[in-house]
Amino acid sequence: PVSVIPAPAFLGFAAISANRVDGITVPAGYSAKPFLAWGTPITGTYPNFLADASNTAAEQAMQMGMNHDGMHFFPIDVRSGGNSSSEGLLVMNHEYVEPNVLHPQGPLLPRPAEQVAKELAAHGVSVVHIEKAANGDWRVVSNSPFNRRITGETPMELAGPVRGHAKVVTKYSPDGSRTRGTLNNCAHGYTPWGTYLTAEENWAGYFMNSDSTQVREHRRYGVGSSNGRYFWETATPAADRYQRFNASTLAASAAEDYRNEPNTFGWIVEIDPFNPDSVPQKRTALGRFAHEGIVFAKVTEGEPLVAYSGDDARDEYIYKYVSKQPYFRNTAGGHLLNDGTLYVARFNADGSGDWLALDINNPEFAAKAALAGVSFSDQADVLLNTRLAADIAGATKMDRPEWGAVHPETSEVYFTLTNNTNRTAAQVDAANPRANNATGHIIRWKERGTLASSQFNWDIFLLAGDVGTATPGTNLVLTADNHHASPDGLWFDDNGLLWIQTDMSGSQQSSGPYGNNAMLVADPVSRQIKRFLVGPTDCEVTGVIMTPDQRTMFVNIQHPGDRSSVTNFTSNWPDGGNSRPRSATVIITKDDGGMIGT
Ligand code: FEO
Ligand code: CA
Ligand code: CA
Ligand code: CA
Repeated sequence: PVSVIPAPAFLGFAAISANRVDGITVPAGYSAKPFLAWGTPITGTYPNFLADASNTAAEQAMQMGMNHDGMHFFPIDVRSGGNSSSEGLLVMNHEYVEPNVLHPQGPLLPRPAEQVAKELAAHGVSVVHIEKAANGDWRVVSNSPFNRRITGETPMELAGPVRGHAKVVTKYSPDGSRTRGTLNNCAHGYTPWGTYLTAEENWAGYFMNSDSTQVREHRRYGVGSSNGRYFWETATPAADRYQRFNASTLAASAAEDYRNEPNTFGWIVEIDPFNPDSVPQKRTALGRFAHEGIVFAKVTEGEPLVAYSGDDARDEYIYKYVSKQPYFRNTAGGHLLNDGTLYVARFNADGSGDWLALDINNPEFAAKAALAGVSFSDQADVLLNTRLAADIAGATKMDRPEWGAVHPETSEVYFTLTNNTNRTAAQVDAANPRANNATGHIIRWKERGTLASSQFNWDIFLLAGDVGTATPGTNLVLTADNHHASPDGLWFDDNGLLWIQTDMSGSQQSSGPYGNNAMLVADPVSRQIKRFLVGPTDCEVTGVIMTPDQRTMFVNIQHPGDRSSVTNFTSNWPDGGNSRPRSATVIITKDDGGMIGT
């Protein structure tokens, strides 16, 4: 049911083989160089990275964070209509930390406050002003006013319907307008007005709530009852900035404890990289879930803004946001993300689909909520409980929605569904057609009529898996050139080529035929797919962007050596020898100076 325009006849390179090399493999005729590894100094006093990981928390806050993820390149002149390919702001997420690698002695218990502070500082976002030198190498512009680290402790504001709500009142912000930090920033997005969006994914694991009955805003998202994943709430000596990760009811009122702290996470956060003093804004109208990222449909003057975001957990949903106010280039800004309608997807068996409004004033939604015996005090309460609202609406439970990508010409939307081994044969549906789906698939849809439409047509673009895996109804049968599993990162370049990045678990990499995690590129028309890059041992390949001339590609390598102990590193990339593994960006160029992907 889906039509696309032809992409250029790219993919002229020879596909590389799956492999288990502790390094970067790219096709013949291409080169790859590591850049901006964890610990690279980018701001403040520019403290050098110490190879034994003995940098302090304060130093970490002036260096690249850990576990690079989603990323965007803003040409330095983009705000004045330019498209520089030799200078810009590279902005990226730091999803989480590997304490065995982050600290010389690994994580200590009880947690020393200095270690916890370093872990918070290694999370968040980096804004790095970079430029291409005369010899073609990229470097950090030292002392640039744009260079900035945003961490798990940076003050932020809540914006949109949830701002000021009783359920976001904390001891830190008795009026419910502010919070500290952003955590588990996975994929990303960028707005048509040139700002960066970072997505809070598995934030729930950072908190604990030992109340005998957890509130639904915590329970439905998986906040634990004992300790957070890094035991931050136990930091010694104790301080408010760490104790906030204990969201148990401890005092007489919400303004005296942190019972509502988790409600200030789970949002898309807007950052203006060109204003280093700007306060990041958590855009609550976009819903609260394990946001993997956000991708915008092509904007049209005078039409509403449309964006898509997936909730990466088994049997969760795909969402669409439509702004209330139309988009106009001259006035566009964050206000368009504060007022709109959030929809959730239902994929019907006949290839049609419906966007179901999660709106307390929508009669159909209100009737379904009443039938389910669920009450919401206001629209902010709906947004705080987005997953519950989507359950009520009758959305389709998906096989872990990760990244979305919008075709630059056709506005067709592609989404990775990375895997879902929980799906039983009885739970299979047309959009999630495989039980025990260990290898994942990519779905796509096209809106019916305008982009703001509440109906769409969908089909399955590919089923991932071993050599011989066929996608029904298409000519696609995977071969040794392109077999893969657990597609996650997804991005269209300006030529309409679809870049697919994989995030297989350690056991899927070591037991299967797929080698290390990889990046492939697909022509969406012919469904020709070739493996383009293989990452180092125990890494994930996630995050990709090019300069506007498409001659420099940036790819992020996350958690190389993620099975490392304190004394035994399972990867030594990128520094080699016996060095500790470091997440890093890789810069890819074509040796003949041509476009990437040709
Ligand atoms: Fe952080 Fe869903 O990947
Ligand atoms: Ca991901
Ligand atoms: Ca993943
Ligand atoms: Ca990851």
